[in-house]
Amino acid sequence: MSTVYPSTNHESNSIEDRLKIDYLLDAKTAEKNDIQDLISGLQNTPKSIPVRYFYDSQGSQLFEQICQLPEYYPTRTEASILKQYAAEIVEQTKAIELIELGSGSSTKTRYLLDAYQDLHTPLYYSPVDVSDTILKDSAYKLLADYPQLKIQGKVATYDRALEQMSSYVLGRRTIIFLGSSIGNFKDSECDRFINQVTAVLNPGDYFLLGIDLQKPKKILEAAYNDSQGVTAAFNLNMLQHLNHRFQGNFNLDLFRHQAIYNSNEHQIEMYLIAQQDQLISLKDLNLTLKVNKGEKILTEISRKFNLEQMKQYLGNISDKEAEGQNLNLIQTYTDEQQWFGLLLCQKQLPNP
Ligand code: AVJ
Repeated sequence: MSTVYPSTNHESNSIEDRLKIDYLLDAKTAEKNDIQDLISGLQNTPKSIPVRYFYDSQGSQLFEQICQLPEYYPTRTEASILKQYAAEIVEQTKAIELIELGSGSSTKTRYLLDAYQDLHTPLYYSPVDVSDTILKDSAYKLLADYPQLKIQGKVATYDRALEQMSSYVLGRRTIIFLGSSIGNFKDSECDRFINQVTAVLNPGDYFLLGIDLQKPKKILEAAYNDSQGVTAAFNLNMLQHLNHRFQGNFNLDLFRHQAIYNSNEHQIEMYLIAQQDQLISLKDLNLTLKVNKGEKILTEISRKFNLEQMKQYLGNISDKEAEGQNLNLIQTYTDEQQWFGLLLCQKQLPNP
């Protein structure tokens, strides 16, 4: 039992009172799905590891470092677009709940939070991330910097968070999915994800999606093969994460990072290449694997989109359950070079 102290103010403003975090990761079923995906990935040919295993606390920190690299243009470019249009987006959406899937450090989100603050509009921010350390750290920083903000964070996968979100509604909602994280999804996963998001939106709610756009191979490959080796460390850290989490024996010195642009599929593919034959065991999963010298484990695809195709695609989404409720594309924002796009969609209001 916790003790509730009467507050002297009518509206309590302490950080604790403005923060709520739900832990949805250790739920037995969620854990099982994550593990099942991992096992089937490792048993496939070619082998693969689901991307969510990048983001333990070390991996989330490395990703933050990636975002600051001179070669890694997406974060900077998306931030500049957001900076320019945040006020317009907030003015248009007028949401009272801002949900961010894969929030990380929430750095870019601050442009939107600033715009809310300028309008003196109260806001619930609901960040969702698989790393509890980064979620907590950034929540505390945001609460200190934005005295009007209330945070309802979720330590969860997108699936679990979206599932839980459909059961309560505070009011007008905006779901944001930035950084081109959607680029990690294959076509079928993309369909599923967009349908899930659409189902969680109520008529009139918004969805803001960040997408990395197609550009010359040279620029793309440099962004995933940075000269300081941070992306390589990020890629290899996945093995470290598996070692910690499942009592594994991956030797990081026996794998090498590779990132190539597949221009037919319009995607960056990241691999870990085995430098010699080896036997891997993940004790907690009762799993033993043979890995051959030269064998590549696929750790990530990062798709690069065509703006017009994506606009078409989003314009054709409709909620299967609520008949006739389409996702309408309201506005498209890009930078001067058209390197990155932000698409603002709204779930259709019912016809009067
Ligand atoms: C977070 C998935 C958008 O694909 O660019 C960065 C992850 N991987 N460098 C991306 C990543 C290697 C990033 N996303």
